[in-house]
Amino acid sequence: MNDNTLDPKNWDEIRALGHKMMDDMMDYLSTVRDRPVWQAIPDDTKDFFEEPLPQESKDASLVYNEFTQHIQPYAKGSIHPRFWAWVEGTGTPLGALADFLASSINSNVAIGEQAAMYVDQQVVNWSIQLMGMPDTSSGILVSGGSMANATALIVARNSKIDDVRSTGLQGLKRRPVMYCSTETHSCVIKSAEVIGIGSHGLRRIPVNADFQIDIALLEKKIIEDLDLGYQPLCVIANAGTVNTGAIDDLMAIRGLTSKYDLWMHVDGAFGALAVLSPDHKEVKEAIALTDSVAFDYHKWMYMPYEVGCVLINDKKAHTEAFNLTPNYLLKHERGLASGPESLNSFGIELSRGFKALKVWMSIKEHGMQAYADMINKNIAQANYLGNLVMDNDDLELATPVTLNVVCYRYMWSGMGDEVHNERNKEITMRLQEEGIASPSSTVLDGKYYIRVAITNHRSIKSDFDLLINETIRIARALS
Ligand SMILES: Cc1ncc(COP(=O)(O)O)c(C=O)c1O
Repeated sequence: MNDNTLDPKNWDEIRALGHKMMDDMMDYLSTVRDRPVWQAIPDDTKDFFEEPLPQESKDASLVYNEFTQHIQPYAKGSIHPRFWAWVEGTGTPLGALADFLASSINSNVAIGEQAAMYVDQQVVNWSIQLMGMPDTSSGILVSGGSMANATALIVARNSKIDDVRSTGLQGLKRRPVMYCSTETHSCVIKSAEVIGIGSHGLRRIPVNADFQIDIALLEKKIIEDLDLGYQPLCVIANAGTVNTGAIDDLMAIRGLTSKYDLWMHVDGAFGALAVLSPDHKEVKEAIALTDSVAFDYHKWMYMPYEVGCVLINDKKAHTEAFNLTPNYLLKHERGLASGPESLNSFGIELSRGFKALKVWMSIKEHGMQAYADMINKNIAQANYLGNLVMDNDDLELATPVTLNVVCYRYMWSGMGDEVHNERNKEITMRLQEEGIASPSSTVLDGKYYIRVAITNHRSIKSDFDLLINETIRIARALS
């Protein structure tokens, strides 16, 4: 038997290495604008990741060198001012430091009398205040929007079907179904599959010209399902679709869900943060009335990955969906096993990292007004970019800008969609490969669009001028 540990043999050395890492990262973050947004990963780095499972020890500073040589230069680039791919937040220096603090105290924020439980609870309470949900609400921080949506849909299913936790879905007289639009994020389809609704049981209702769910078709389908003996459970509304940022008519959906006694869930992965925009009062108004909402702190609140949040407006329904206390998780009156309600009763996960800390520290550091300013800045930037596109005869805007997503393409006269699709895809790849900007893409009605989703606190107006100028330069070179 030995008394070895995994702690450093020399604490001064690890302290010095930690200081170096900190200096390197602050240099890296503060000079991000000077570097390309993205660069291709060379073959020798890809080969480096083929190294088999290490058996021998290696000095920590050498391991860090491997990070600086092979990982840091080939990051995705979401910290860069011209990263607008998919929907990814930018992160902040203090957010990153908070993750270091959280990892240092290594709290598993599931149960127990520990300060982290109170911080987590406070962040959930702040989230309820942020979204304007009622006092009866509860919530939980999760890995991201996918898990947040899944958690809400489990609560929706369990609160609408008696005894489903014990009997499952077998033997139900009426097959349960849920509703969303064809623009709803794919994670909702996965959730429907996982919770036994099935992808066919998730009715994907067509959208109107503004990519919002067609309310008349939604009601028609609910009535049809009721007539055919299905059990409608829930409507999943979009506050900001992933493709175009479209916001469904949330109040109309609330009207229908009340009329047919259905659960209303809002997928607001990024768009729920429009509660901070004076231009989107309808989002705040509807979220106050919804049964549940999912949103991400790592998207439009710019926190480092990963942290999402789900709120349920009925704590009883929430905990009844998940509570289960085996003997090894019993709560005591005093000591370590006392403390706040186990977070195991609010979701699927038991072990949970202390992701609340970066939210807690960041909100305190900046205050909510700064977040509102950033979000409104991003909305104004999306409108500015939309206008740049509309003002140029060679560019086409897919749809009017409603939030922070802009989809556009370059148009060559006399060319069909096939050529346009190929060439706009080429523009996207060259923008990325040349390190100029990282938009992503989508296909709407068979047409390929360059897609810019602005959840970036570092972007400034001239970044969008550059994007358009470079798009045109590359497009002309392709002609
Ligand atoms: C509207 C919407 N819903 C859900 C998700 C999934 O969120 P996450 O990637 O955090 O799991 C996304 C991701 O971009 C999204 O845009």
